[in-house]
Amino acid sequence: MQENISLLPYNTFGIFANAKYFTLFSSTEDLKNILQSTEVKTNGLCILGGGSNILLTKDVDKVVLKNELKGIEIISQNNEVALVKCAAGEVWHSFVLWCIENNLYGVENLSLIPGTVGAAPMQNIGAYGVEIKDVFFELEAMQIDSLQMKTFNQAQCEFGYRESFFKRKGKDQYIITSVTFQLNKKANLNASYGAIQEVLTAKQIENPTAKDISNAVIEIRQSKLPDPKEIGNAGSFFKNPEIATKHFLVLKKVYPSMPGYTLTEYLTKVPAGWLIEQCGWKGFRKDDLGVHARQALVLVNYKQALGAEIYNLSTQILESVKNKFDIVLEREVNIW
Ligand code: EPU
Repeated sequence: MQENISLLPYNTFGIFANAKYFTLFSSTEDLKNILQSTEVKTNGLCILGGGSNILLTKDVDKVVLKNELKGIEIISQNNEVALVKCAAGEVWHSFVLWCIENNLYGVENLSLIPGTVGAAPMQNIGAYGVEIKDVFFELEAMQIDSLQMKTFNQAQCEFGYRESFFKRKGKDQYIITSVTFQLNKKANLNASYGAIQEVLTAKQIENPTAKDISNAVIEIRQSKLPDPKEIGNAGSFFKNPEIATKHFLVLKKVYPSMPGYTLTEYLTKVPAGWLIEQCGWKGFRKDDLGVHARQALVLVNYKQALGAEIYNLSTQILESVKNKFDIVLEREVNIW
């Protein structure tokens, strides 16, 4: 248990903030001991995965626990599918590459998403037509109060768009220790997303392999999203809002270029990046604080912006989108 530790190396936004206490765990036994410590009992705790979906707005006066559980194994398989159990502290993209190397299919579209495997189900990570729920089998988590291990199946995780049980009813009650995925042994690739098709066509690839799809996704992400090693960020800052189709149709008359994806007869999903861009924020910069020039959904820290300043900018963006479109955006990033 270390005291007064800088969290700068542990958050991709590159925010300067300290943790009152900080400790790593690399086994469930370690974890149990930490959870019973006086420091945790007195101060409470926060769990850190890859630190790629948090905004630190102040020093953390709790115990910050960094998950370092490692290991990937095939626990069962038949001719069609394999169940792969992955420890929660593994880096997500390393897991994706491991699957591709082992000819196991289903996560290639989720290449290069920052963060850890344990954090992935928390917000049901998704990109380019695939969500983790599509390949999810079950997960194991330790209940903080009872120190008991519990297994959650797909239904118990209550996955939604960037949502799960662990962000809502189960918030702060469990620590995910492993996730088991059901992966295909026969390639059933999803190249339907427009941007993927464009990259494949440009490269004249007609029959893509999983590696081709992964490389295309990596290329798209690198062209749109800032690399946190160079510019601090936490990916999409807001969720894409789902609005009443009636409301969408009214707006569409005023803004004919407004994109929207029909979800149901009554609900339409609108890209928040478009709304934010229309409000004039794309490429905005004030000192070290800004909105990415190539993707308006991503707020950035050029060097020394404060978490509270980024939070205030996100409030200004929320207000301008509300005023112009009467749409209330929801933050996707966890605010600490
Ligand atoms: N758009 C704009 N201006 C912008 C950004 C986007 O007009 O500055 C519009 C365009 O119409 C574009 C559409 O938004 O066609 C969609 O943009 P993009 O394909 O970049 O996807 P997104 O909806 O902005 C979502 C996820 C990303 C994920 C991509 C690809 C959310 C909150 N974000 O972004 O996930 O990589 O789709 O599937 O759903 C993340 O969660 O951190 C993340 C990066």
